[in-house]
Amino acid sequence: MASNTNLSIVILAAGKGTRMKSAKPKVLQPLAGKPLLTHVLQTTQAIGAHKVVVVYGHGGELVKQEYSTSNFPIAWALQAEQLGTGHALKMALEHIPAQGKTVVLYGDVPLTQLESIQNLIAKAGNGMAMMTIQLTDPTGYGRIERNAAGEVLRVVEHKDATAEQHKITEINTGVYCVDNACLHRWINQLQNNNAQQEYYLTDIVAMAVSEGLTINTVAPTYSFEVDGVNDRLQLAALERLYQQHTVNEHMRQGLMVIDPQRVDIRGDLSFGSDVTLDINVIIEGNCVLGDNVVVGAGSVLKNVTIGANTIIQPYSLIDSANIGQGASIGPFARIRPGTQLADGVHVGNFVEVKNSVLGANSKANHLTYIGDADIGKSCNIGAGTITCNYDGANKHRTVMLDNVFIGSNNALVAPLHIGQGATTAAGSVITKTVNNNTLAVARAKQVEITTYQRPVKTTSKKD
Ligand code: UD1
Ligand code: CA
Repeated sequence: MASNTNLSIVILAAGKGTRMKSAKPKVLQPLAGKPLLTHVLQTTQAIGAHKVVVVYGHGGELVKQEYSTSNFPIAWALQAEQLGTGHALKMALEHIPAQGKTVVLYGDVPLTQLESIQNLIAKAGNGMAMMTIQLTDPTGYGRIERNAAGEVLRVVEHKDATAEQHKITEINTGVYCVDNACLHRWINQLQNNNAQQEYYLTDIVAMAVSEGLTINTVAPTYSFEVDGVNDRLQLAALERLYQQHTVNEHMRQGLMVIDPQRVDIRGDLSFGSDVTLDINVIIEGNCVLGDNVVVGAGSVLKNVTIGANTIIQPYSLIDSANIGQGASIGPFARIRPGTQLADGVHVGNFVEVKNSVLGANSKANHLTYIGDADIGKSCNIGAGTITCNYDGANKHRTVMLDNVFIGSNNALVAPLHIGQGATTAAGSVITKTVNNNTLAVARAKQVEITTYQRPVKTTSKKD
């Protein structure tokens, strides 16, 4: 999206996150496979903010490190001591231009949606707008105090509130959009004479009102948009809400999910018509599924593209691979990075394929390892075949032209070339080139020992 040159975003992320009881900073904990902060940063990218300031504190070096190679244009602001949300914003001020608007978001509130933030920006005018929500249990939150005319007067923190104010159910989500000139002026006027002796960012609301400004409020579309994460229970609960929401959205677009409670989508999924996901499927990264693709129970797909009419049988793991149309994978198949399977390929149970290409209609149906191989069209790889691609130091490729038939239980010692139409006998250890249309037999000859006597059990000892 085009950069909005007037818009800055401050993401507060200086909290310690002690309740996670983790060595990892809270904002790096994963939700749907991505750090909490990445969710927020991706939203800011979608808004097209000109400037994104992340206020960091405890453990912040790890956070900075995590994003040092990312393409998010982040300005980092250190808040060495957590003296309150207002103080945190003060640390970011030097990065905020004199003109324009600033949106305040939170590193531990990962799911604030683009549409809600855009609504908020549109309502900020020359002063500020804030996101509020009605809660049946508002305990702990700052309450929105309004006058008889319904205009916002101020935010009262729970700890500073009277019994009467505790009854207010409209709460401050902490998400604001503020005019930059106002922000600079107000932040510098903040005091910490309150119950927590903190610099409350919320005090800018009363300042705006005292300057005669009207404060517009917007509500998020979904309540999970303003849910924060403080401990692992909240993280897991938010994960469920996110999954439910994502699955619902996909199903509205035509994805068939056999049980919406038992699929996890940790990334971006695009799909054609009549695609079905069976139970306990996990989708990670970027996945593209063509028309009529069926993904069987318990399968995990990460960064894969799958052509139309392909069936992924249950319990298959597919990572960073490209699969054509009308293919059949699994059950219990493992497809590893760098694999390309053309149309009509069959990869069956207990078959592992890594960094290999299988041409159209080639089959490896049972108990096989194919690593670093270039396999032509219409080949048949017998059960139990292993490409011996690793000599202990280097990897080597196995090249197989079209219409090759590999007998069962072959060891194909790479580097190796097998010509078009060639056949290998069952049980062979193939170490040398096999020429086109020949049969290679590479195994000990069967011998007949007529004098052989089976050992007999000795009766003296029992063991
Ligand atoms: C704040 C709001 C409250 C609102 C609630 C919504 C204030 C004074 N109160 O309360 O009105 O209902 O959020 O969840 O703003 N942070 C820093 N540095 C600090 C303090 C906080 O970066 O010095 C960050 C935290 O990492 C966190 C966020 O700001 O992401 C909110 O801090 P928190 O202490 O949870 O705010 P509350 O007191 O709950
Ligand atoms: Ca606090």
